Amino acid sequence: MTARQQREVWATKVGLVLALAGNAVGLGNLLRFPRQVAENGGGAFMVPYFISLILMGIPLMWVELAMGRRGGVYGYGTTPGMFGLLWRHPAARYVGALGILITSALVIYYTYIVSWCMGYAFFSAAGTYFGETSQTAMGSFFDGYLGVEKNQYFSGIGAAYFFFVATLLLVVWILSRGVVKGLETLARIAMPVLFVLGVALVARVLTLEPNPANPGWNVGAGLGFIWNPDLSRLGDGKVWLAAAGQIFFTLSLGFGAIQTYASYIREKQDLALTGLAAASVNEGVEVIIGGTLAIPAAVVFFGPMQTQAIASGGSFSLGFLSLPVVFQQMPFGQFFGSMWFLLLFLAGVTSSVAMAQPAMAFLQEDFRLTRPRAALVVGAVMLVLIQPVIFFQRYGFLDEMDYWVGTFGLVVMALIEVILFAWVFGMDRAWGEITRGAELAIPRVFYYVIKYVTPLFLVVILVVWTWQEAIGMLLMRGVVPEAVPYRWGARLLILGLFAAILFGVHKRWGGKPMDEMEHPS
Ligand code: PHE
Repeated sequence: MTARQQREVWATKVGLVLALAGNAVGLGNLLRFPRQVAENGGGAFMVPYFISLILMGIPLMWVELAMGRRGGVYGYGTTPGMFGLLWRHPAARYVGALGILITSALVIYYTYIVSWCMGYAFFSAAGTYFGETSQTAMGSFFDGYLGVEKNQYFSGIGAAYFFFVATLLLVVWILSRGVVKGLETLARIAMPVLFVLGVALVARVLTLEPNPANPGWNVGAGLGFIWNPDLSRLGDGKVWLAAAGQIFFTLSLGFGAIQTYASYIREKQDLALTGLAAASVNEGVEVIIGGTLAIPAAVVFFGPMQTQAIASGGSFSLGFLSLPVVFQQMPFGQFFGSMWFLLLFLAGVTSSVAMAQPAMAFLQEDFRLTRPRAALVVGAVMLVLIQPVIFFQRYGFLDEMDYWVGTFGLVVMALIEVILFAWVFGMDRAWGEITRGAELAIPRVFYYVIKYVTPLFLVVILVVWTWQEAIGMLLMRGVVPEAVPYRWGARLLILGLFAAILFGVHKRWGGKPMDEMEHPS
């Protein structure tokens, strides 16, 4: 049997687009995006955002899909194998280990956050937090839930634990069912439900009546708050970095997750239209649904000043502190509250499985584990490694991991892969890969964009970022002394995971000279 026959392939075109869209649409669209816009110049943010989308996002989407589909043709579902096909150098596969590391580190804490959404969907439906009408009270509720403090709401982290394990079991179960019965079926169910929930909530927010005491705090003002452009911010490099970072995160680019999904695409099946369709769905959910819900609703109830403070107050305050207060003030608040958290949960869970799939493919292909076994191993590792994240939350353990994995690491990965694909493998062959079977004629200008503009853009981002931010992060500037050991712990966790993956790659490939292996021209 050839490698090709052993691999699963997506059953339908619609299923593929929905699965890729489910991969991309996540908490990033509904929580991260609105906050980024509000903090980085409102509508003006959309200028660098769309420029990044066209010059980096869409081209990289095609690059990752092409690289992944090609990997799948030779039986490789993860970036070590894929990089080996592009670059005939023994280092290629070790470099490719990054694509397993980033997704595998991310899936641990991302799934934890997804589980909060499940918890809050229940609390909303049951009205658990109803009566706690201030953000301060909701803040204590949140801290109690996370075990950051013991208080009248929660005496320990039992609830958070319960919902994490429930979410984890669901993820493991879906993974164990495989690509078609698991991932594709999930996307075919979750994505339509997600659209319906999103549209219904948008309708709810757009018809919110302002409190007569503050007639100026209306939906129009809320939309204006998020969208009115502050063009003076366009000269600010930070705004550009934030926009580019958001494009990566929201489209799941630079992680290794799109490549793995693409490895289950048939050799001659279209990528051009598929990639564009998935990216468009993601952008629709992000800009229309993500841009209409959290911020405008907060403005109607808290006014623009306070919303500004909320938006800059941390990634989760908008979703988990402010909106619960909002729901308590609207008719059928329990209903709308549970809808909001269910929306977040569905968006998140389709992303969690996407992040776990590279590890699945790695274990199945390179260690010959059966699918259920691989799913169990993935689940067990997540269960073990989430412990420090849960227990050291207050020391910024999660934030430290998120910076290196969810912000910095993926830009490094994206730069490496575009260089390997466009320069080492060669742009002519790369273009042939991208356009094979294409149902959409990609304008030729993208040949040059992928070859020159995207890598250049990435280099600039990386240099500026390292300079402005990463060095400070590395030296832990501004971190309170008592948190330092825990932040080191987070780094050690990432490094340990990396060492384990590198060891796995070494066992699988080490010592085998490239030429002796099945190596296509
Ligand atoms: N794109 C997802 C989001 O917006 C995050 C993600 C990253 C999903 C990597 C899969 C892989 O939340």
